[in-house]
Amino acid sequence: MKIDFTKPYFNKNMKKDVLKNIHDSLNSNTLMLSSKSKKLEKLFSRIIGTKYSITVNSGTTGLQIALRYANVKNNEVIIPSASFITNVSSVLFEGGKPILVDCNNNSLTFNIDDLKKKINKKTKAIVWIHLAGYIGSEYKKIVEIAKKNKILLIEDASHAHGSSINGKLAGSIGDVGIFSLYPTKVLTAGTGGIITTNNKKIFELAKSLRIFGKNENSGEVENLGNDWFLDEFRCSVAYVQLKNLGQIVKKRQKAAAYYLDTLPKSEFYDFLNLTPDIVSNWYHFPIFFKQKIMVDQIILELSKYHVTAKRIYKPVYEEKVFLKMNLGKNFYSTKILLDCSLCLPLYTSITKKEQKYVVQCFKKAIKNIKVE
Ligand SMILES: Cc1ncc(COP(=O)(O)O)c(C=O)c1O
Repeated sequence: MKIDFTKPYFNKNMKKDVLKNIHDSLNSNTLMLSSKSKKLEKLFSRIIGTKYSITVNSGTTGLQIALRYANVKNNEVIIPSASFITNVSSVLFEGGKPILVDCNNNSLTFNIDDLKKKINKKTKAIVWIHLAGYIGSEYKKIVEIAKKNKILLIEDASHAHGSSINGKLAGSIGDVGIFSLYPTKVLTAGTGGIITTNNKKIFELAKSLRIFGKNENSGEVENLGNDWFLDEFRCSVAYVQLKNLGQIVKKRQKAAAYYLDTLPKSEFYDFLNLTPDIVSNWYHFPIFFKQKIMVDQIILELSKYHVTAKRIYKPVYEEKVFLKMNLGKNFYSTKILLDCSLCLPLYTSITKKEQKYVVQCFKKAIKNIKVE
C-alpha cells in the first residue's frame, strides 16, 4: 500500500458541481469578478462571521494586501519563527523588516514574552499563524497586545479553514484574516486565497489592489495594484469545497480521533493536546518527539513502507535565501518544535484501512529507532 501525505478532496457530487459551475462560467463569457466570486465571498463571510471576504489569487497575495494596508514600508512586522516562507517574503515584498519571534511549544503560537520584547514604535503588524490548523489557547493575550499597541493583527489562517476557539472561527479574531486555497490545504481551488475582515478600508483597498489598483466605481487607477484577482473557474471550485467544509472538517476530526485511539502511547513522544474550547480542522496530525534523530529515523523507516510523513516546516530562518539576511537564530523552542516533530498522513478521504496500515508501519518504525 502507498500512503501519500495529503490529497485534495472532491467526492462524486463535488466533481459534478464543479463541472456544472465551470460550464456555467464558460457559457456566461465572464471569467472574472462576477457571480461565482460574489457567491463565494458571500458564503465565506457568512461561515467565518466577518462583514467582508475578498477573493485573491493566493494566500501570499492576501498577506501582501494586509501588509500594504498596515503601511509596513520601512517599518517592522512581527512573525512567528515557525512560519511559512512567504510570511517572511511578503513583508520583504512590501518593503518592511520581518522580526521573528520564538514560539510556545504548547500552544504552537508566539512565546508571549518574546513577542512583547520585540514590539517597538516601528511595529506596524503582527502576523499570527494558526499552525497545523490549531488556534493557540493564548489567543486573548495576542489580541490584547495588538490592541494595546495599536498594531494590525493579521491572522494567517491558511491552515485553519473551519478551526475555532471558544466558538470564534479562524479568520474572524484579528483585524484581518488570510486563507490559502493552495492544493494541499483543507479547502482548495487549485490555488487561490481569501481575505476576511470587518474593516471597510481593508475591504476597499483589497478590491482595488487585486485589479491593478483601480477604483471599482470610477475605474480610476488609485493604487499600485496587480493582477491579483481569483478567476471565476477557481471561485467555482472553492465554492463547492466551501459548501462541504462541515463534512470535510468532520472527516478529518474522525481520522485524527482514530490515530489518537490507536497509536501507542510512549515516553518518547506526545500528541497535540486539545482543550474542549479548541476545534481543530486537523490540517496536520503532528507528533512531538524528544529528539530530532527519532524524527529523521521514523520518516526514513515509514518511507520504506511507502508511507509519507513530513515535518511541518524547516525553520524559515534556515532557508538559504534568508540565511544571508540574518533574521536571527536564537529561536530555541521553534528549533525544537520543528526539528523534533513529524506529521502523519491525514487527508479528508483517508480510509480506516489506510490509517490502520499507517499505524502498523509506525509501530514497526518506532521499534527500530535508536535513541541517543
Ligand atoms: C501558513 C501559510 N501561510 C501562507 C501560505 C501561502 O499561501 P499561498 O500558497 O496560497 O500563497 C502558506 C502555504 O501555502 C502557508 O502554509
